[in-house]
Amino acid sequence: MIQQSTRIAAHYDRADLYDRILAALAEAGVPEGEIEARHLKPIDEFHIGGLEATEAVLAPLGLGPGVRVLDAGSGLGGAARLMAERFDADVTGLDLTPAFVETARRLTALTGLCAEFVEGSALDMPFEDGAFDVVTLLHVGMNLPDKPRFFAEAARVLRPGGRLAVYDVMRFGAHPAFPLPWASAPDHSFLDTPDAYLAAARGAGFELASREDRGGIARAFFARMRAQIARSGPAPLGLPLLMGDTAAEKAANMARAVEAGDIQPVAMTFHPGARP
Ligand SMILES: C[S@@+](CC[C@H](N)C(=O)[O-])C[C@H]1O[C@@H](n2cnc3c(N)ncnc32)[C@H](O)[C@@H]1O
Repeated sequence: MIQQSTRIAAHYDRADLYDRILAALAEAGVPEGEIEARHLKPIDEFHIGGLEATEAVLAPLGLGPGVRVLDAGSGLGGAARLMAERFDADVTGLDLTPAFVETARRLTALTGLCAEFVEGSALDMPFEDGAFDVVTLLHVGMNLPDKPRFFAEAARVLRPGGRLAVYDVMRFGAHPAFPLPWASAPDHSFLDTPDAYLAAARGAGFELASREDRGGIARAFFARMRAQIARSGPAPLGLPLLMGDTAAEKAANMARAVEAGDIQPVAMTFHPGARP
């Protein structure tokens, strides 16, 4: 039987991703020797809301020089690079998909920024107890079948007084149609309600510090993206490169479900409370 983690990695895996990103940049007029971190922005946020969402999620976390951050499910490393560049934070990215880890390492080296990327699972983190001041999880929980285990692992690797930020698509109604950006089929999609997240977090000893339901922001974001594509057509470098042949269908299914109110992105910040 194929393991769940293998199916998830297979869903995200793209052949020659790094080379295709460089080719798209060249087509957009940025040759290899001139690539800077800002040129990677169109693929840096594989989550709803783009850079504004990343900034909103990071704002309450007290980031600064030397703050040790674990970005669980780091994808191509966009959030890690942002935290390194803007806050001089000491960032480690952890991701299940080998092709993403390799591409994140190579893109980060290309920009001259400093962040480490490790292959592994957010459900079984290859780090010591108390190794981080902050843990972030951006649009990864939809692939995590066991939320209590994720929160227990986050609590374990955080130092006392650390912070956890979760920004995930959560379920408020019917399940959206497949394919979706995070899953091609039901056997690797694990959408949960905000209450399920809160119960799992409480079970691991976390207290909720803030929560923002971002359905309205998501709808406005999709409208802006549609208008931009209608105006200028699809850009050579963008998220479709990461989503493969069914990119348009995945994006449309997700946007329809957000419009219907069945799902919305939710940002939550936690701090470790008293142990249960
Ligand atoms: C939608 S992408 C989001 C990437 C990134 N956080 C961002 O916002 O741009 C989901 C990512 O989660 C990773 N992922 C899924 N399940 C995981 C797990 N159990 N442990 C670590 N990473 C996982 C995938 O490989 C993929 O890179």
